[in-house]
Amino acid sequence: MKKIIALTILLAALTSCSNSDTYQDIQTPQTGTNPGTDPTAAITYTKTVKSIIDGNCISCHSSSGSASFRPLTTYAQVKTAIETAGLLTRIQLQNGQQGLMPQGGRMSQANIDLIVKWNTDGLKEN
Ligand code: HEC
Repeated sequence: MKKIIALTILLAALTSCSNSDTYQDIQTPQTGTNPGTDPTAAITYTKTVKSIIDGNCISCHSSSGSASFRPLTTYAQVKTAIETAGLLTRIQLQNGQQGLMPQGGRMSQANIDLIVKWNTDGLKEN
C-alpha cells in the first residue's frame, strides 16, 4: 500500500514537472522581434521609423507637398535631416513653439521617443 502511495506522489511530481517545462517554453521570449514588444531591440528605419514619418510628415515633405524642398520619403533623406536639419529638435518642441514639426501639433510622446531612440541606436536602416 505504501508503495502505491509513493508511486502516486512520484507520478504527480513528474506530471507537474513536465507541465512547468511546457509553461517555460511558452514564456521564453523570442529574440530579434518587433521593437514594439522588445524594448532592448535596436530601432530601425524600415521596421519602425518609416511608418511614423509616412503617417505624420510626407504629406508636406514630399515632391507635391509644401515642404518639397526637404523630402522625407527615403532612409537617406530622413537620416540627413536628423544629421543636418535639426529634425530631432523640431519634433521635440512643445505645442505652440515656433518650428514644431509636424506643424499641426506634436506627435505622441511614444512616436517621438522611438525616433530619438533610433538616433541613439545608430540610425540603422534595417
Ligand atoms: C503641414 C505640413 C508639414 C508637416 C505635416 C510636417 N512639416 Fe516639416 N516643414 C514644413 C514646412 C513648410 C517647413 C519649412 C518651414 C520651417 O522650417 O519651419 C518644414 C521644415 C522642416 C524641417 C527643417 C528643414 C530644413 O531644411 O530646414 C524639418 C527637419 C522638418 N520640417 C521635419 C518634419 C518632420 C520630421 C515631420 C513629421 C514628424 C514634419 N516636418 C511634418 C511643413 C510640414
